[in-house]
Amino acid sequence: MLSFIFFFLLILPNSCYANAEVNVLMEIKASLDPENKHLTSWSETADPCGGSFLGVACNQYLKVANISLQGKGLTGKLPPAISGLKCLSGLYLHYNLLTGEIPKEISALTELSELYLNVNNLTGEIPQEIGNMANLEVIELCCNQLNGSIPPELGSLKKLNVLALQHNRLTGEIPRTLGGLVTLKRLDLSFNQLLGPIPVAMVKVSRLEFFDVQNNTLSGFVPTGLKRLKDRFSYKNNRDLCGASAFAELRPCTELDVAMINQLEPFTPAPNTTISENIPQSANVLPRCQQPHCTNSSNLRRVGVIAGIVAVIAALTVTAFIAVFIHRRRKQKIWSKSETPEHRFSMQESAKKSGDSACAWDPTQKSPKNCGFCIESQSLQSFNLEEIESATRYFSDANLLGRSKFSAVYKGVLRDRSVVAIKSVSVTSCKADEAEFTKGLSMLTSLKHENLARLRGFCCSKGRGECFLVYDFASKGNLSEYVDVEDGRSSHVLDWPKRVTIINGIAKGLAYLHRSDTEKSGMIHRNISMEKILIDQQYNPLITDAGLLKLLADDIVFSALKVSAALGYMAPEYITTGKFTEKSDVYAFGVVVLQILSGKSNITGSIRAAAADRRFNDFIDENLEGKYSESEADKLAKIGVICVDEVPENRLTMEAVILELTNSI
Ligand SMILES: *[C@@H]1O[C@H](CO)[C@@H](O)[C@H](O)[C@H]1NC(C)=O
Ligand SMILES: *[C@@H]1O[C@H](CO)[C@@H](O)[C@H](O)[C@H]1NC(C)=O
Ligand SMILES: *[C@@H]1O[C@H](CO)[C@@H](O)[C@H](O)[C@H]1NC(C)=O
Ligand SMILES: *[C@@H]1O[C@H](CO)[C@@H](O)[C@H](O)[C@H]1NC(C)=O
Ligand SMILES: *[C@@H]1O[C@H](CO)[C@@H](O)[C@H](O)[C@H]1NC(C)=O
Repeated sequence: MLSFIFFFLLILPNSCYANAEVNVLMEIKASLDPENKHLTSWSETADPCGGSFLGVACNQYLKVANISLQGKGLTGKLPPAISGLKCLSGLYLHYNLLTGEIPKEISALTELSELYLNVNNLTGEIPQEIGNMANLEVIELCCNQLNGSIPPELGSLKKLNVLALQHNRLTGEIPRTLGGLVTLKRLDLSFNQLLGPIPVAMVKVSRLEFFDVQNNTLSGFVPTGLKRLKDRFSYKNNRDLCGASAFAELRPCTELDVAMINQLEPFTPAPNTTISENIPQSANVLPRCQQPHCTNSSNLRRVGVIAGIVAVIAALTVTAFIAVFIHRRRKQKIWSKSETPEHRFSMQESAKKSGDSACAWDPTQKSPKNCGFCIESQSLQSFNLEEIESATRYFSDANLLGRSKFSAVYKGVLRDRSVVAIKSVSVTSCKADEAEFTKGLSMLTSLKHENLARLRGFCCSKGRGECFLVYDFASKGNLSEYVDVEDGRSSHVLDWPKRVTIINGIAKGLAYLHRSDTEKSGMIHRNISMEKILIDQQYNPLITDAGLLKLLADDIVFSALKVSAALGYMAPEYITTGKFTEKSDVYAFGVVVLQILSGKSNITGSIRAAAADRRFNDFIDENLEGKYSESEADKLAKIGVICVDEVPENRLTMEAVILELTNSI
């Protein structure tokens, strides 16, 4: 009885609290999802801890502990009301399209340990108040448009493991206080506009395993102690870093670099340089009385003593003068140095605005008639612009097969009458380095497999500012046209044998990509989805765009990844590691298998569960009207389910998938 009352006392105030949280959640919903398209399950009358609220998890006291809405296509803003969820420990809103600023009120979330806001469109500054969130272990803010400087207050987060701020527009210096982050393991500040030196204090962060500052405008001395990170310390593409010979790619430091750190960090040990060599030695001014001829007479000696005193005074004056002079010169140099970055930066910016950035193709030739210059792939068919133009009938809309954010695909007929798909990619979408881009494309033309859409060749036109990739044409479109089939489009329902062939073919194509042998090194597709599986006349699948993502500019990649996350193709570990592996391709393959079996593009939890339990009636496409082989369905469902396992190690390799398939089907 007593324990019953006790239980009641415990539960009552908490359930009241949960109700208070419903109102907060409603406010958050209105802000994150202003058009109420994605959070329809968040309802005022329901219990947020009852399991019906998408992405909301509660703790044992029925308070909201996690909000996991990564890759959900949210287009709103993060509201100050978030501060009302006092027990929140994880906020996962990455891979969305959120805009606006990070509200400073977020700092009221003192229980929060993981903050994932990466790959959104957030602007403004990082609130310094985040420094008060003592339980933070992970701050992921990569790939937004945050500006301002890194708040020194972040240095007081004593539990921080990961601080990832790369690909923003951060300016100012790297705060020295980051050296106080004793538990920090990963620090990524790359691709910003940070200035000044790398704080020597970073050497004190003994647990640091990964440190990236590449593509900033840093200058000065690189602490030699960072060498211990080996290739997990990246510092390329900065304005003017220098360092000890341990860093092969850096110039040696000069007196000036050292003067700068000594000014900024007075108590650091002097690095190994040649500072004192050129400073005049006062002793050199005093040699006169040590010469033999003035030691003889006492008179002379007295004169000598007086002369000596005068000489010493004169010498001291001269020395002081020289010292002041040197000091001033140094100061002047420091001044003019710290002015240059702004200057250079604005030059770069204006160069960008005038258009000659990106791939460095000549932008002045605007008229297509003037150009016709194409880079021809060595081994394969080479094309010129004229041929591309006539094949696509001057890019006529009638020939347009599809358009995405960074490319358009046209159907074309070449002179030899073969039918091709021509993908045009704007030069502003490709990796900054032209040579690297064309080299990458050449490599892609060397891939050959019956289940890969063959890249016949490519050509880049300066005049149009575009590259054209010429692929074999697949007459039956892509896989996404064969799912979610509504009544009346029965010609788009794939029969069972075709589905089996298609799954087999995709597996073979992917296994070929992953394989590394004498002819090719293994590679990762990175962007498998139904759109990337083309269907040819005989209903064979052809994987397209293999490796292309790697050649495109970061913003294009990020927007492709957002789409991939929103459609459910992104492996969960990518979200934490940010690395593509064969196993992330396998995950996407698993999703595609479940899509083919169910005939649905949206693989919900209930489809997964039904596939895992082999409840065929609950997940096999009803458009098949029961015409499928249960033993094959069993095998394919099993493969699909293993491939979408949350743990990458549990997923099959593509080779193992092929073994499974050939053994049974
Ligand atoms: C919140 O998310 C973290 C990290 O994913 C997890 O460890 C924890 O169990 C989650 N808490 C709840 C109540 O679901
Ligand atoms: C992000 O915001 C900028 C303006 O701040 C806008 O130009 C850009 O299109 C947005 N990007 C996305 C993917 O919404
Ligand atoms: C940051 O960007 C916002 C616009 O998004 C602007 O109003 C603000 O002045 C910028 N701050 C700095 C320090 O550049
Ligand atoms: C990184 O720096 C290199 C060299 O300065 C430059 O060519 C490249 O465009 C930069 N990359 C990005 C994404 O800014
Ligand atoms: C300092 O530099 C000299 C030569 O410049 C070298 O012989 C010496 O080993 C260096 N000392 C350290 C600690 O790097």
